[in-house]
Amino acid sequence: MNATIRKAELRDAANIVRAEQEIALEPGFFCSQPSELSEKNVKNTIESSHGVYFVAECNGCIAGHAFLEILPLQSLKHIAQLNIAVHKGFQNRGIGTQLLEKIIEWAKESESIEKIELNVRASNAQAIALYKKMGFLEEGCLKRHVKTEIGYIDDILMALHVKGSLPDRKISRTGVYGVAKEKEKILFVIQKSGPFAELFDLPGGGIEFGEDPNQALHREFIEETGMDFRSMIQIDNFSAVTRVPALNGKPGYEFHQIGLIYSVDGLHDLEDIQKGSLKCEWVDVRALKKNAVAPFVWAIIQGENACTK
Ligand SMILES: CC(C)(COP(=O)(O)OP(=O)(O)OC[C@H]1O[C@@H](n2cnc3c(N)ncnc32)[C@H](O)[C@@H]1OP(=O)(O)O)[C@@H](O)C(=O)NCCC(=O)NCCS
Repeated sequence: MNATIRKAELRDAANIVRAEQEIALEPGFFCSQPSELSEKNVKNTIESSHGVYFVAECNGCIAGHAFLEILPLQSLKHIAQLNIAVHKGFQNRGIGTQLLEKIIEWAKESESIEKIELNVRASNAQAIALYKKMGFLEEGCLKRHVKTEIGYIDDILMALHVKGSLPDRKISRTGVYGVAKEKEKILFVIQKSGPFAELFDLPGGGIEFGEDPNQALHREFIEETGMDFRSMIQIDNFSAVTRVPALNGKPGYEFHQIGLIYSVDGLHDLEDIQKGSLKCEWVDVRALKKNAVAPFVWAIIQGENACTK
């Protein structure tokens, strides 16, 4: 849905606060209760010279809003705090994306802002997906930070560095990966996004909280390929550090990938399961080129590693 993104005006405040109060009725989105949100506060923020306030307009209706507040202390003036809400009835139609694109463009052109920071409830999967898509990275987690009627919720701290690169940014991931072999061919998935987009990768991924490697590999196989396997046996551990370059305005970083590598057997399609989320291809490893595979897969293939023998 195409929206017009424009600066907020004082006349928008009543609409904005009504929409915020509606969202705040449900726990897990805002920290504020409906009664803690007021038109006066919205007006003050719109009028403030320490940031910017945008609204998204669709067919004459305010469909969402987003604002940046530059922190007042001298040592923190390079940071702007982000708040965003897409109003009920307009969510999940690309309006949050358009608001964030505008906010990021504005921050990049501003003189002072180097970093946009935000807090998001760990339960808010949609918001986290949007922030990650726009290049925000997790910088921390405040445990049991928000106390609601449905219990405590952790708060995730995320940030986007809008100027310069982050040479010291380091991300570590532990995952499980499966090698399914058929004669000389190995089953690869082709990544759609992330540091290894468009490259051949082994099916697999991160181990979720509480999962053992066995459960994680079955889940990842089903999600990515739409197939499951009968048995798995660990054949290797792997650890590699890759430099992921800056891309589409997202800063680069050092990526430390730790992989538990399993040989999987008895691959079979699943009935009543949706298609895998990634394209799969059986590839003869002898024909693979270095620039076509994720770096850690290439290192496995090159090494004296049992899985490709
Ligand atoms: C979070 C919010 C700002 C997102 O705005 P939006 O207009 O709905 O977002 P968009 O449609 O532009 O993008 C949402 C993305 O999340 C994805 N998504 C939606 N639901 C998801 C879910 N449950 N899990 C993972 N991803 C999800 C969508 O597929 C989309 O990604 P894509 O463009 O790659 O397909 C909006 O939903 C909102 O205001 N929610 C209530 C208030 C709130 O949570 N504010 C943020 C507080 S930190």
